[in-house]
Amino acid sequence: MSNKIKFPYSRPIVEEQDIKLVSNSLRSQFLTGGKIIKKFEKNICKEFNVKNSIVCNSGTAALHLIYLALGLKKGDSILTSPVTFAATANAALMCGAKVFFADVDPLTGMVTPETIEKQLKNKKSNFKVITIVHLGGRLCNLEEISKLAKKYNCYLVEDACHAPGAKYLNSLGRFSNIGSCKYSIASSFSFHAIKHITMAEGGCVTTNNSKITKMIRSKLSHGIIRQVNNKNFLDPWYYKIKELGYNYRASEINCALGVSQLKRLSASIKQRKKIAKIYKKELEGIPYITFPKYSFDNNCNVWHLFTILLDFKKIGLNRRELMKKLEFEGIGTQVHYIPLFLQPIYQSSKTEKFSGALEYYKKNLSLPMYVSLEKKDIELICTKLKKIILKSI
Ligand SMILES: Cc1ncc(COP(=O)(O)O)c(C=O)c1O
Repeated sequence: MSNKIKFPYSRPIVEEQDIKLVSNSLRSQFLTGGKIIKKFEKNICKEFNVKNSIVCNSGTAALHLIYLALGLKKGDSILTSPVTFAATANAALMCGAKVFFADVDPLTGMVTPETIEKQLKNKKSNFKVITIVHLGGRLCNLEEISKLAKKYNCYLVEDACHAPGAKYLNSLGRFSNIGSCKYSIASSFSFHAIKHITMAEGGCVTTNNSKITKMIRSKLSHGIIRQVNNKNFLDPWYYKIKELGYNYRASEINCALGVSQLKRLSASIKQRKKIAKIYKKELEGIPYITFPKYSFDNNCNVWHLFTILLDFKKIGLNRRELMKKLEFEGIGTQVHYIPLFLQPIYQSSKTEKFSGALEYYKKNLSLPMYVSLEKKDIELICTKLKKIILKSI
């Protein structure tokens, strides 16, 4: 990120209370494997209304642990969105599985029941897992996609890294928490520096399945079992390594930051919703700018990103030029994401036509979105953007 950027597209917010809790954790006897991790996990369960949470050291680790616990291996396949951060798919490659993509709705950037079923029907692959991504804090059609997962005998996993604190509204008008896994076997979260809440680096899995929880806890460490009061374990130092583990554990220090940040999650979402409303007011009606479909519907979006869609052809400016001009004004922007099938590592999928993903990729741009943005900042960002666009048309 350039130094002259005054408004980055995202920014972590660390408050005095966070610093105090982190300092306290450094003064305690345990820097690892102590009470703070347990407390963080308990608080996550309460906040997301789920039976089990397992905190780990990244969102990528959370996804890898879920896939491992579901038994994903060589010969299996997953179906996911190409419009996501690499980790969603890469974690499946780590298990030796094949990755296939379902196209997205060009107006939302997210997979739909139709695009998913098309792939499940057509491919002769052994699909074990469908992983959906709640892009930017907007939510996929969980209800219908979960029906498809049942129909085709797949596990449904939610990559909810962009959507902690969100509530999904079903067709009966009932809300359920993202992370409660009402429709899925497990959800993954990232608590990276620029997510809604941060542990600096960290993440977690949520699930209501106790068998999966047990498997994840084993793989989170080193697959070690220690049993006191068992004649095979008489020697006090003795333990058994029953399977491969990955040491994906988080520290007490990172969890102290997580505990403190989680307290502010709902307040921060409220603030993000306010910011989004101001953006909407400022940008509505500007030629060739639209918002992804459903961005403002039912108040369900938790606004990890503030994404707009631009018709660059009609504006007469390409995205690189616009980003450079905004950068010159101190405004950071980003593109979420380069579709994964364009990446060399996923080249085998390149031959398929994913016109929805390409269309969304061509148009999207994320503007600054973080809790400390003030009304005057947003007005300034929008004024600069309007000026550049109107001058170019
Ligand atoms: C959708 C999505 N999934 C997974 C991840 C991976 O999380 P982490 O960076 O904590 O490993 C990210 C992080 O950016 C993400 O945006």
